[in-house]
Amino acid sequence: MDPNHSNIKNRKRTSEEIYHQACKIIPGGVSRNTIFHKPYPHYISHASGCYTTDIDGTQRIDFANNMAALIHGHTHPEIENAIINQIKKGTAYSMATETEVLYAQQLCDRAPSFEKIRFVNSGTEAVMAMIKTARAFTGRPKIAKAEGAYHGTYDFAEVSQTPKPTNWGNIDSPNSVALATGTPQAVLDNVLIFPYNDIERTLAILDKNANELACVLIDLVPHRVGLMKGDHEFINAIYEWTRKNDVLIAFDEVVTFRVNYGGAQQNYNIKPDLTALGKIIGGGFPIGAFTGRADVMKVLDPSENKLLFPHSGTFSANPVSMTAGRIAMEMFNKEAILKLNTLTQKAINQIREAIKIADVPVSITGAGSMFRLHLKSVAPTSFREAYQTKETKLLINEMLDYLFFKENIMMINTLACMFSTVIKQKEVDILSQAFLNMFKQFKSQLDTFQ
Ligand SMILES: Cc1ncc(COP(=O)(O)O)c(C=O)c1O
Repeated sequence: MDPNHSNIKNRKRTSEEIYHQACKIIPGGVSRNTIFHKPYPHYISHASGCYTTDIDGTQRIDFANNMAALIHGHTHPEIENAIINQIKKGTAYSMATETEVLYAQQLCDRAPSFEKIRFVNSGTEAVMAMIKTARAFTGRPKIAKAEGAYHGTYDFAEVSQTPKPTNWGNIDSPNSVALATGTPQAVLDNVLIFPYNDIERTLAILDKNANELACVLIDLVPHRVGLMKGDHEFINAIYEWTRKNDVLIAFDEVVTFRVNYGGAQQNYNIKPDLTALGKIIGGGFPIGAFTGRADVMKVLDPSENKLLFPHSGTFSANPVSMTAGRIAMEMFNKEAILKLNTLTQKAINQIREAIKIADVPVSITGAGSMFRLHLKSVAPTSFREAYQTKETKLLINEMLDYLFFKENIMMINTLACMFSTVIKQKEVDILSQAFLNMFKQFKSQLDTFQ
């Protein structure tokens, strides 16, 4: 134990002090790199609605919402009451719960492609299980994914998550770039990379590997690619290609499920074979789910003579996540979604006005209740266009610090906002004024990024 521990036990420690201890026992002092911040991250005291208060006493408006996971902000009273009741009855058992079945029904009723569903504990696990389901069903090993797309931390899903100009290769056939050092070559050999929103090149890449592909993995509004919407023609072309070639199309809606009642897929005239869910469907608790065609999901059915994909998880469908998620998604009905998306669009319009007033080369992409700012006057349409150089990243970090420390605003570190239903016009006005102040403050640096 830290020798100073007993002396400081009885007084409130500063974030800096806690971080000092954290660094001794946690690599880099953090369990998730998105929290990492130089010189130290700020530690939370409590949060309510769309406001967080750190242990140093500063209150901020939360536009990050735990990386898009909190659709009703913090400590929503209805979710709080429901989970307190559940916790009193137990939090995890080696038995089934009715809540799981009720929640499964509720989610399956939201989208026609959700015929059967299984719960897991994170978006990573949902994407992983979805890929394994596709492999088990097709008997084929490979997957295809977009360059720069983030799909969680499964080996195969994280290939080419952060490629650079020095290793991304020719756009006609992008390299499969390892994220973690030590990734087996076999993983890279089994992941095809295609350029998002580029029909011709993508279809050419898929054609070359049609016989070996289990699924094409698609995020309809991929955050790290640039949070631009998938063009309808692009998504349709991939869909048609998968129909012709007996390959599954698997949507990662871990983030985009918030875009519409049935997820972003509702905005496309497509019924995917499989969909991965996570984040908001946990009502603030860890969760993931994968869902899709009944005949495909049969590979998971232990009552079949031959079980093609044996699948389990100690905390899968735990009643706390099920209860919180069910209440959260019940409240996230069509009316709430329309209201939230309308307010977000209003925020985008106000920020565009601020961009105009400050006359800075900044553009915005996004969909539904999410948007991201880019330090270029024309919004990027591909990962390589949206790519942030070291200099861009440095400026973005300075801007995020300005917002965090001077304007008391929390955003996602890509300069993105993920709204929650508890944000109101008052917070939108504060946000757009903060952006205007920031654009004015950084104008001369921003102008160099034309
Ligand atoms: C599109 C997408 N898929 C999957 C994941 C992984 O989810 P989790 O962090 O719950 O494992 C994320 C997380 O940010 C994501 O953005």
